[in-house]
Order: sequence, then C-alpha cells, then structure tokens
Amino acid sequence: MNALELMRAGPVMPVIVIKDLDTAVPLAQALVAGGIRSLEITLRSDVALQAMRLIAEAVPEALVGAGTVRSAAQLDAALRAGARFAISPGLTPDLAAAARDCGVPFLPGIATPAEAMWAAEQGYTEQKLFPAAAVGGVALLKALHGPLPELRYCPTGGINAANAGEYLALPNVECVGGSWLTPVAAVAGRRWADITALARQAAALK
Ligand code: 3PG
Repeated sequence: MNALELMRAGPVMPVIVIKDLDTAVPLAQALVAGGIRSLEITLRSDVALQAMRLIAEAVPEALVGAGTVRSAAQLDAALRAGARFAISPGLTPDLAAAARDCGVPFLPGIATPAEAMWAAEQGYTEQKLFPAAAVGGVALLKALHGPLPELRYCPTGGINAANAGEYLALPNVECVGGSWLTPVAAVAGRRWADITALARQAAALK
C-alpha cells in the first residue's frame, strides 16, 4: 500500500486519542462496525503504542497506524508496535529521512505552500494539511491546487460531519481526518453504538 492508496481506503480517517487501554479494542470494533477501517492512533498518551498492538491483534479488519509522529524515534517505536502507516503534524529533516525507507505510507503535515513544496521535494506528494480550518481550510486547498496540482491532501483539524463534504469535494482532497468520530464523552461512557453510528455516517461521505 502506498500513501495514495491509504488516503483512498476511506473518506474519513479518525484521529484517535486513547487514554484508557481498556477502551482500545471496543472503540476500534465500533468504528470498524460502522465501516471505518483506517485508524490513526495518536502518540499523545502513554498507552498509544500498547493500544496499537492490542487493536492490531484483536481487530484484524482494522488498518492501524500512528499519528502525531514527531521524531524518528517515535516513528521507529510506532513501527515496532505494528503501525501500518504513520502521520505527522509537520515535517522535519530528520523525520523526512527516517520515513523515506520506513516501509509504510507516511503522510507529513504541512500548513503553507513552502512546506508543501519542501515535503514534495522530499518525495511526499501525499500530505496532511494541518491544522486545516485554522490555516485556511477549503479556501487554502483551492488556492494550493493552482500552483501545486499534483499534491494530494488529507486535511485535519477543525473538520466535522457538517463540513467534511465540502473538503471531500475538492480535487486535491482524497480523505479527511478528525476527532469527531470518537467524542471523549462517548468513549468514556462506552457508548459504542453511538460511535458506530458516527462512523457509518462518515463512511457514507463523498
Ligand atoms: C489532528 O491531530 O489531526 C487534530 O487534532 C484533529 O483535529 P480535530 O480534533 O479538530 O478533529
């Protein structure tokens, strides 16, 4: 699988923060039941790597990857935990070099034309626009498409069920990411049917 295939695996990639390891497997099962299979587990909690391992074992239908990968060391740890893709909020020279031969698709975060050009120069033509809404959202993506038509985006940050369709209609957007499929209260309350319903709605987009 390459980065474009990863982006085309589904219209919405949930950005997941797992705080309580016990929620990892039922949460992944709830998303998969709703038709969302690519799961970005962010490295923003102590249990993120363990959560990835557990989900990969218990929910084989899921494609589990790591998000919020900020360094080569984190990328390495994520790969050792079984991450099948990796996503970063931004790109550094070290990370660009480490991800080049890492063996899984890597989507680097960018927020400006210069960053998009630099990431493309490093070989990454599929990118995450982050934080999408804050840096210009749909208008920015439309503006980027003129001078940089070969680049493809997964915008995340400020995207939700109400505005996802507007992003997905753009020619340079392959999928969107966001945390709206996994509301903190629904996860804490273990309301898995609610999460499946959100996933089903998201899977039907585009
Ligand atoms: C990300 O890391 O992609 C964002 O935190 C997701 O942003 P959201 O919470 O606004 O969806």
